[in-house]
Amino acid sequence: MQFIAHNATFFHENLQIYNSGYFGEKSINEAIDCCPILPKKCANFVSMKERILMIGSNGQIGSELATALRRRFGTENVITSDIREPTVLKEDEIFEIINVLDKPALTDLFEKYKPTQLYLLAAMLSATGEKYPQKAWDLNINGLLNVLDLAVELDVKKVFWPSSIAVFGPHSPKQNTDQYCVMDPVSIYGVTKLAGERLCEYYHHKYKLDIRSVRFPGIISWKTAPGGGTTDYAVDIFIEALKYGRYTCFLSANTALPMLYMEDAVRGTMELMDAPVEQISIRSSYNLAGLSFTPSEIGKEIKKILPNFEMSYVDDDPRQAIADTWPASIDDAYARRDWGWKPKFDLESITEDMIANLKTNV
Ligand SMILES: NC(=O)c1ccc[n+]([C@@H]2O[C@H](COP(=O)([O-])OP(=O)(O)OC[C@H]3O[C@@H](n4cnc5c(N)ncnc54)[C@H](O)[C@@H]3O)[C@@H](O)[C@H]2O)c1
Repeated sequence: MQFIAHNATFFHENLQIYNSGYFGEKSINEAIDCCPILPKKCANFVSMKERILMIGSNGQIGSELATALRRRFGTENVITSDIREPTVLKEDEIFEIINVLDKPALTDLFEKYKPTQLYLLAAMLSATGEKYPQKAWDLNINGLLNVLDLAVELDVKKVFWPSSIAVFGPHSPKQNTDQYCVMDPVSIYGVTKLAGERLCEYYHHKYKLDIRSVRFPGIISWKTAPGGGTTDYAVDIFIEALKYGRYTCFLSANTALPMLYMEDAVRGTMELMDAPVEQISIRSSYNLAGLSFTPSEIGKEIKKILPNFEMSYVDDDPRQAIADTWPASIDDAYARRDWGWKPKFDLESITEDMIANLKTNV
């Protein structure tokens, strides 16, 4: 028992060295080959071959998480899949078309690749969900159930499924929203995420499935466009600021919402999945915070770099009603305590990074 605990600590420490960014773009195999900082014994970790299957990989989060996973586990060990073709696919990358609602096809996919880890990212997000509530329920719940059942049946070691701050509602505390509090979501998206969390916890308790989850806040990124959420304005604003020098925001000036930069989101996901199993105390979904800001605050930050930037606001966009029921800030004490979560990006560094990267792309 002591030996196992010692080895777990040993691998965890080495992974922390690897995750520090010291090795840049290198996969862990390449890092081990080229550098004495990672002792050769660490190769044992890699030789326990992981095979990753990601479903819904072409979206905002999947496209960046897949890159990070390929770097870590090797391109040949990460299979991405989606209902539509990816815009870019490198020669050695493995991709499959799949509809997560097609259980027979999904079973074939699981049997073909025998994944040890599964990442389920296919979902309908908050704003789109309000247009198609029945479809949102079907995809977000039946897609999850299909994956959970197959993960149990075919003995998948670990599953990642993201929840959202949309699980909270008008009677949840608005500031520093606690992990455990009143949860009365009003959007169909929030309803599916809360039901999904209960399913995850149920499958963990009933079938011992090692499922791990975070409640993502709004994700800010520059590589892939967001997929129809209430926090999409925090990406659109940068694109339009650079293209037109102005932005009309669909949320009001003082609507504070929790947000997270993509680099932090990807690192947080991988840290959660790396954490020793005994450190995971929450099997529904962890609160996860990055930063909180209002449209007016991000507008001012952009103006520091683009002084001519102008901002205006529209009234009565349906997304405002959703945002009004969401927390303004999140208490993520459990994630910090259990697996050492700590965000790195603040509003200033996000703004600088977004503008620097988008400048050459828009
Ligand atoms: N992006 C955010 O701000 C945010 C915030 C909180 C939670 N989340 C959650 O993170 C996960 C990923 O979000 P995202 O922003 O990358 O979403 P996205 O909409 O950008 O991507 C979802 C992907 O799923 C694919 N998909 C849709 N239907 C499918 C089906 N039937 N079968 C297979 N694939 C299908 C889509 O083609 C798309 O590529 C979702 O569960 C979402 O609820 C995202």
